[in-house]
Amino acid sequence: MAMQINDSKEQQHPPHPGASNGLEAKTSQHQVKIPDALRETLVSSDLAWSHANEASNDFRSDTYTKPSMPMLEAIIATSLGDGDTDEDVATRSLEEYIADLVGHEASLLVASGTMGNQVAHQAALKTPPYSILADARGHFHTFECGGASYLTGASVRQVFPSNGHHLTLEDVKREATLRESIYEIPTRVISLENTLNGTIMPLSDVRAISEWAHAQDPPIHLHLDGARVWEAVVAGAFTLREIGAYFDSIQLCFTKGVGAPLGSIVTGSSTYIKRARWSRKFLGGGMRATGLIAASARVAVDDVFFGGKMKAAQEKAKYASDLWQQLGGKLAVPTETNIVWFDLEASGLTYEDFYPLAKRFDLKFRDLQLGRLVFHYQISQGALDRLGDFFRAVLH
Ligand SMILES: Cc1ncc(COP(=O)(O)O)c(C=O)c1O
Repeated sequence: MAMQINDSKEQQHPPHPGASNGLEAKTSQHQVKIPDALRETLVSSDLAWSHANEASNDFRSDTYTKPSMPMLEAIIATSLGDGDTDEDVATRSLEEYIADLVGHEASLLVASGTMGNQVAHQAALKTPPYSILADARGHFHTFECGGASYLTGASVRQVFPSNGHHLTLEDVKREATLRESIYEIPTRVISLENTLNGTIMPLSDVRAISEWAHAQDPPIHLHLDGARVWEAVVAGAFTLREIGAYFDSIQLCFTKGVGAPLGSIVTGSSTYIKRARWSRKFLGGGMRATGLIAASARVAVDDVFFGGKMKAAQEKAKYASDLWQQLGGKLAVPTETNIVWFDLEASGLTYEDFYPLAKRFDLKFRDLQLGRLVFHYQISQGALDRLGDFFRAVLH
């Protein structure tokens, strides 16, 4: 599949003049402005949508943000066409908008990041036997119930990055199967993730892998699990369009960091997205009034991502990891964006030292991935201060 190269170097580091690409105007044409009286009633009604404070101490994941009042307003004002048959105006507008941001021809709204990755792999894999090459730590094959192999029949070649940080072309070349003997499983998809565990894969490595993958015969499809690619952009690593130029498909989550209540999107060429639409339907992801999802997702991108609200979360993550280290704690992974990984064992701590005490400081941690704290735009200064006190208590 040909890459969707777009030479435009338009900067997309937030804050971004979202209206400048013309798509904003298209969307707002279809958006009904809700009356001020209704807005006032909503604001004074103490709806759950205004309870961002409930997420202010929640470090379990950046999926635990509370959807905001502007998202609710957008939902009230949205179009109500059928998403399954591609009739919804707000959904189509969002799909055009995101495709344009990453420099791809088309995109498709899906229910979740997991569905996005599965749809993307399915649409890329045509005739078995085939395999997907991926970073051994990748989300789609470690945390999505094994769906990739189950749903596509592909085996997943898991590669540990030799530099301990991100896959390089050398890793990929070493592990890819290019021969087509009857014994082997050709690599048909390389599935990268950026950010991965909060770390950034540099654009130069992405470029090297992309150029090599596309030079193969047949070209190897390059997919990006960009659930948190927003964070890499906020950190200044590249623009969405810069990274988009190297991938055949990208999955971006509206629920991670940018704070929408639901939804993800898969981008690619028009013919690829046509196939992806079949996969979405096949997986039961054909949904009706998808304007409800699209409207709030659009606010998430414009208000949280382009609105510059994510940077502060990354600064808080950096502050927390610096303080942790100053107090003698060790990190398992460098903090490059919004995810902090403490090495509890190297810091001389046990599970029992860490997790029960956090509760006493009114901090919510998740122990599914030990030592991981995730920062998002609704984490408050008060919670950060208590986190510092918790560090002092636990590392005394
Ligand atoms: C990198 C990555 N990809 C995909 C997903 C799956 O997203 P979802 O939970 O929306 O299915 C996640 C979820 O946390 C993720 O972290």
